[in-house]
Amino acid sequence: MEPTPKPESPALLARMYQLFRDYFDRAEKKRRWSIREDIPWDKCNRSLDPAVADVVQTFCMVELFLPDYLSKLIPQVRANRGRAWMLANWGYEECKHSMALGDWLLKSGHRSDEQMADMESTLFQEEWDLPYDNARAMVCYTMVQELATWLHYKNLLKIIGDDGDPALYQVLHLVSMDERAHYDFFKRMVQLYLEDDRPGTLEQLRRVMNTFKMPAVHLIVDGKQRAQVVQEMRIFDYDIFFEQVFLPIMASLKVDKSELRRKSVREVMVVGTEG
Ligand SMILES: [Fe+2]
Ligand SMILES: [Fe+2]
Repeated sequence: MEPTPKPESPALLARMYQLFRDYFDRAEKKRRWSIREDIPWDKCNRSLDPAVADVVQTFCMVELFLPDYLSKLIPQVRANRGRAWMLANWGYEECKHSMALGDWLLKSGHRSDEQMADMESTLFQEEWDLPYDNARAMVCYTMVQELATWLHYKNLLKIIGDDGDPALYQVLHLVSMDERAHYDFFKRMVQLYLEDDRPGTLEQLRRVMNTFKMPAVHLIVDGKQRAQVVQEMRIFDYDIFFEQVFLPIMASLKVDKSELRRKSVREVMVVGTEG
């Protein structure tokens, strides 16, 4: 059984709340955008490659599981104001992503109202569950997932280019800026945990890095086929994960690969009883 991470001290909780306040102030000042005002909706390209619209739909579907993400993540951190308030703010930012992507699918004519309604009703027959059982692992997971998500949007942006569809280009640009800011916040959070309890945090980071999967893809109708398209278009695959997610995160956290090797059972138990 995996060791249970030690609870946060009052000093650590205070640093986490401060981290959220700094993030929030910056977001209010520099990163708020409007779906209605900031996207050139009259410049949707109706003849864009339908494969791109399929990928946009996949991303929209992953974003649509937001009620599951929030309802399962918040109870883990309700006594941690920095993390809980971040989830409230994160939820606000994430809800714009599925709305903006869904609006593009409709306004570009790539999907009808009926198709969108069908998609939503089948989607919620499935339910996303937490991939890890504790809040420390989940902050590591969210950090990795946000950088991976940023890459998904950035690589799709490169494929369409700024003259392929100016409306979609702007949607992807604004959404990817949010995803990058999310990654940065959760990485700083993981850094605080590492400073506070390096072995306990590395144990959770090891679990996440060894088993990482994008959220909800397996819950989506034709999920495998959709993931295949994302790989074929070189938007995301294992090599991209390793080179552009795993390695940069390890470098940024100043964690060496050798520190993530599985320890012997004896060592794990010693680490587990330290806290
Ligand atoms: Fe998002
Ligand atoms: Fe995000």
